[in-house]
Order: sequence, then C-alpha cells, then structure tokens
Amino acid sequence: MTPVVAIDGPAGSGKGTMARKLASHFGFVYLDTGMMYRAVAYLNLSADKLSWLSIADFMAAVRKIPDANLRTDEVSLKTSTISKQPEIRESMVRLQREFAKNPGKKYKGAILDGRDIGTVVVPDAVCKLFITADVKVRAERRFVAIKQTNKQATFDEVYENLKKRDEQDSSRNIAPMKFDESYVLVDTSKETAKESFAKVVKIVENAFAAANMKI
Ligand code: DC
Repeated sequence: MTPVVAIDGPAGSGKGTMARKLASHFGFVYLDTGMMYRAVAYLNLSADKLSWLSIADFMAAVRKIPDANLRTDEVSLKTSTISKQPEIRESMVRLQREFAKNPGKKYKGAILDGRDIGTVVVPDAVCKLFITADVKVRAERRFVAIKQTNKQATFDEVYENLKKRDEQDSSRNIAPMKFDESYVLVDTSKETAKESFAKVVKIVENAFAAANMKI
C-alpha cells in the first residue's frame, strides 16, 4: 500500500501550506486538488475531454498556467460551479487516485489536499487530517495576506466570501466537505503556523507507526 496522507478542510484554513510543508518534511509528493478543479475551469475542459486524459497529460497542461491566473475571482466563481458536476468530479477522482497510487520513485508517498480526499478519493489513507480554524480567524489571516498584494478588499468582504464558500462546499449534494471521526481534527485557531506544523508532524508519524509503515 502506498503511504498516503489525506487532508481536507475549509477555504483559508492553511491546509495547502501545511500539506506543502509536510510533503517536504517527509519526502512525499504533494497534489493540490483545488488547483485541478481551478485548471478545469480555466481551460474550459469538458467532461468528455477529461475522461480521456491521464494524470501526466493533465499535469503537463496545468503546469503551463501561471498560478495567479488560477486564483482570480472569475476563475474561483467558475470553479465553484463546475466542481458540482458529477462527470467532472468522476474524472478528477480517477486522476487523483492514479496520482496517489504512483507517487514516483523519488518520493516515499503522496499528500493530497482538498474537500473530499478522505471521504471519496482515498478513504483508506493511512493518515487523514481535517484542518480548520474559526471563520473569523481564517478571514483575518487571509485579509492580512491580501493587504500585502495589490488586491483591494475589506475585512467584511473577505469574511463573507469565506462564509459563502464554506456553505457551498459543505452543502452541495456530491462529495461535500464533511468531517467524520476517521479524521484527526486539527483546529489552528489559537496556534501559530509553527505550533500547528509541529503538532501535525507528530500526528502523521503516529499514524504511520500505528499502521506499521516506515516512512
Ligand atoms: O482549495 P481551493 O479553494 O483551491 O478549491 C477551489 C474550488 O474547488 C472550491 O470551490 C472547492 C473545489 N474543490 C472541490 O470541490 N474538491 C476538491 N477536492 C478540491 C476543491
């Protein structure tokens, strides 16, 4: 069995940063599945076209897109709509499972993050983390990050936007974001990034030790 860490959680929870740091710490390869949905929206890929693609072809196309182009408000909005389509999700799940099964010789395992990784994509992952924080705290962190860029936004706009995305991601019919007891819940509201990371490294080490897997 391939060592896999599944990470889910709401927008702005810092799960992407955490996943990237964990991947580099443990020598795992990382897949940002939100970015995959964004790329489908950006490239206008139809469900039919997606059903023929391999993960290698898909990633080759995605790598050519500058990250900022995937994170505009327009793409975010479109992504939220296309990610509700069952045929699109079916292809995404197939590609993500392909990725999780074959991390490549250079890597010891795979880390995937998104909304349905531990529920649908790899429910039998050795370690499943649900990373969250209070919506006000997430909005504050995002607001601080936005202020360091050229983008304009008020705190209230950032807060309302996150609340709306939480609502959409957890209430949709197909593959909603949903915490259950198979996850370890990590609430970072009252912690610094450094504290959360140290805590999560221990959780991952313990999960693999309990499964008798060396990483
Ligand atoms: O994580 P993110 O904000 O980049 O995700 C972009 C969108 O894709 C968001 O609307 C939720 C959706 N998404 C999803 O439906 N399933 C995933 N596994 C990852 C993201």
